[in-house]
Amino acid sequence: MKRFCLILIMILGFQTAATVNAQQTPQLGKSSVEELVAAMTLHEKATFLAGVFDYGKNPDGTTRKRVPGAAGSSAEIPRLGIPFAYYPDGPQGVRIQPTRKGTDKTFYCTAFPIATMMAGTWNPDLVSEVGAAMGNETLEYGNDILLAPAMNIHRNPLCGRNFEYYSEDPFLAGKTAAAAIRGIQSQGVGTSLKHFAVNNQETFRLKNDARVSDRALREIYLKGFEIAVKEGKPWTIMSSYNTINGTTASENRALLTDVLRNEWGFEGFVMTDWTSYPRNTAAQIKAGNDQLMPGLKVQVEQIEQAVAEGTLSMADVDLAVTRMLRVLVKSPSYKGYNFSNNPDLVAHAALARKAADEGVVLLKNAWNTLPLKDTGKKIALFGFGSYKIYQGGTGSGNVHTTGIVNIDTALREAGFELQEDLAATYDGVRIDFKIGEKLAKLRAADCDLAIFTIRRNAGEGADRREIKGDFYLTENEEASLKNVSEAFHAAGKKVIVLLNTGGVIETASWKQYADAIVLPWQPGVEAGHAVVDILTGRVNPSGKLTMTWPVAYKDIPSSKNFPSNFEAKKDGVRTPFDPEKRNEGFTEYEEGIWVGYRYFSTYGVPVSFPFGFGLSYTTFDYSKPVVKAGKKGSYTASVTVTNTGSVPGKEVVQLYIAAPKDNLEKPARELKGYAKTRELAPGESQTVTISFDTYGLASFDEAQNAWVTDAGEYTANFASSVEDIRQSASFKVKKPAVLKLKATLR
Ligand code: GLC
Repeated sequence: MKRFCLILIMILGFQTAATVNAQQTPQLGKSSVEELVAAMTLHEKATFLAGVFDYGKNPDGTTRKRVPGAAGSSAEIPRLGIPFAYYPDGPQGVRIQPTRKGTDKTFYCTAFPIATMMAGTWNPDLVSEVGAAMGNETLEYGNDILLAPAMNIHRNPLCGRNFEYYSEDPFLAGKTAAAAIRGIQSQGVGTSLKHFAVNNQETFRLKNDARVSDRALREIYLKGFEIAVKEGKPWTIMSSYNTINGTTASENRALLTDVLRNEWGFEGFVMTDWTSYPRNTAAQIKAGNDQLMPGLKVQVEQIEQAVAEGTLSMADVDLAVTRMLRVLVKSPSYKGYNFSNNPDLVAHAALARKAADEGVVLLKNAWNTLPLKDTGKKIALFGFGSYKIYQGGTGSGNVHTTGIVNIDTALREAGFELQEDLAATYDGVRIDFKIGEKLAKLRAADCDLAIFTIRRNAGEGADRREIKGDFYLTENEEASLKNVSEAFHAAGKKVIVLLNTGGVIETASWKQYADAIVLPWQPGVEAGHAVVDILTGRVNPSGKLTMTWPVAYKDIPSSKNFPSNFEAKKDGVRTPFDPEKRNEGFTEYEEGIWVGYRYFSTYGVPVSFPFGFGLSYTTFDYSKPVVKAGKKGSYTASVTVTNTGSVPGKEVVQLYIAAPKDNLEKPARELKGYAKTRELAPGESQTVTISFDTYGLASFDEAQNAWVTDAGEYTANFASSVEDIRQSASFKVKKPAVLKLKATLR
């Protein structure tokens, strides 16, 4: 009996200790963030801040992580009940491995239209709807934070990642990013707004020093992020690889704390981009860059060492861990969400098509060539892109999708007959060959019309080049288009050019060969269907350009300060990084605020296609506008749009405001608002009202380090593009406004 009691006491004792111990060890879901942080050892904190450096490998080398292909994770701390959280790319949809060992199930995701095309819809509600679908796939495949949206400014058309970005205009970029963030986060997952900041080239992106004036920073390169942070409230921000005026972005306290948090009120956490290039880890955390991705063992050691040496305080470490936990406790993994691995890809593909339909831009439509009235026509389909479309760009922004619809397939489905001998010549081997005069005449004789697709691709890690086959047509493309144009026009038949590209190409030298030019960009998985929806008029095009298409590359203000002909390798040898080399070691943003239409429209430089341009199959009339001053520096600008044509359509009303001249040189006009109408039937009208305020009218005055809104007479221009002003109204700002800032980034 005594023995029994002794054993019982021991068992009870252990249980009590265990209970006490369990009570002493806080647990996620039961304890506060503060209690969890207080319970962490320094090693656990350092590991948590450094991302999952071992990529979650089990001792036998298999992955411990449940989402192969997610770009990164935050570390688990099993002792505290903290699981992995998963961060997949990217801006065009979720990027994870589509197949896994040990199962026949696949994990494909939906490739939506590229970011540039989504911005080109000028429809924030649609951007949010697509964001919600991306967020749903993020959630249902077991992830927590989608590494999107990306929103660096299209400073130069040759930046390799422009397809992942929205626009040359920070207002449009910021509003679009905010809409995407709201959509994605509506599903209970997070976003990582990137790449913060001034990451406008890929050449030597890990080391390039962007040298930018404060005014250009504030008005052009940070303004979009400011709007997106304030109106989207992203869970996280991704700091960029590059350096800004001599300070690496991820070590830049002025950027990540003074501006991002203290000025703009950002409440999430900051992660680095995926750099394996050694940085000053302690400086990053002190600057306000909380998490170091993808995470390296050496960074854990550097954190522990810095704390031991006193160069990094435990308070800074705790602040970073606390910021991460405050966000991640909202994540599906931390909440134990039971994901399905089965998002509705069919519904999402239909949404991808709807979005692409609204992002296609009609650039030319002479003699009402389009829409094609009779789908029984026989088509001579030229260009390799007609048979193998680029649905998106390359690199971490690419989505593993399946079932990409090509243009030829969609044309056949719609009932068109294709010239099959011609189709057979694009057999996947011969990509760019010359269509001679003879063949062009043959096709003009036996076909009703010609469609000629020009395709281009680019992506992360390299910039495009100002050469034939990239910014310019190849010699074969040019000769072929000329021959096809001459032959079909001689036979009284039309030529339609399709631009399947992720960025701007030269158009002025050849656009006269085409009767119609359609820009479907890189439209995602439903590519071919979207193209044919527009060609047949099933959908009336309503997309508008979000950047300027110049006549000549040299017309672009940044053209002499961009590595436009950089070669990564010479004779097989990689070009070495030289910190003293222009456009490689450093890039002078000499053009300042004169980016895109701000330059072309102010200095009257002709362009091939202007910012905000896009044709419709119908026409619209704008009524006399009304601009009203509200309370506390707010304004509303209203105009009534009427469909004066014969088919239903949507119009994008763009509001460009001209500020009064004063000591600061200002652009002729700047985009300060826009509104897309619903689909208006012929004769139908809709009144759109756009709100703005005096802060939104401000210019940045470096001398005062302040946002300044001058008093005086302003002009509100209601336009269908930056060069197509339909109605104007003037209004007064009675009192000047000056908002002095503490932070400076030089
Ligand atoms: C890349 C990209 C970034 C991406 C990350 C993870 O270097 O710059 O956009 O999210 O790594 O793939």
